[in-house]
Amino acid sequence: MAIFEWQDRFFIGVAQIDEHHLHLVELLNKTHRDFLRQAPPDILAELFEELIDYATYHFSAEEKIMLESGFPDIDRHKQKHAKFSAEVVEMHANYLKKQKPFFLEILAFLQNWLESHILQSDCELGRFLAKRNK
Ligand SMILES: [Fe+2]
Repeated sequence: MAIFEWQDRFFIGVAQIDEHHLHLVELLNKTHRDFLRQAPPDILAELFEELIDYATYHFSAEEKIMLESGFPDIDRHKQKHAKFSAEVVEMHANYLKKQKPFFLEILAFLQNWLESHILQSDCELGRFLAKRNK
């Protein structure tokens, strides 16, 4: 069973953003599968690459939409993105030093992000956009 099951209520209604979120869920589930099959921690190098890449293209796409639509809570939302990026960079640095974190830390981090950020902050943006487009 996947660690995180996608549900329709997670869609924010912007195809590009929803695709990015689905991709992140897939990354989380893949990492969980790797953890269950006791893959070596080396496999996480690829995940970090993907996450650093994701933080760049996904956050800039989302922030562009917020700016163009006049989303009022943009600054607070952007701060959360910056925090995610900083945490990924820090975890990656620790990983390269062969320190923590390994699987469990990353799984907890991503699961928490999906639950707290996508389901709350990004869905709030989705509701704002839906109202504005009425
Ligand atoms: Fe966001």
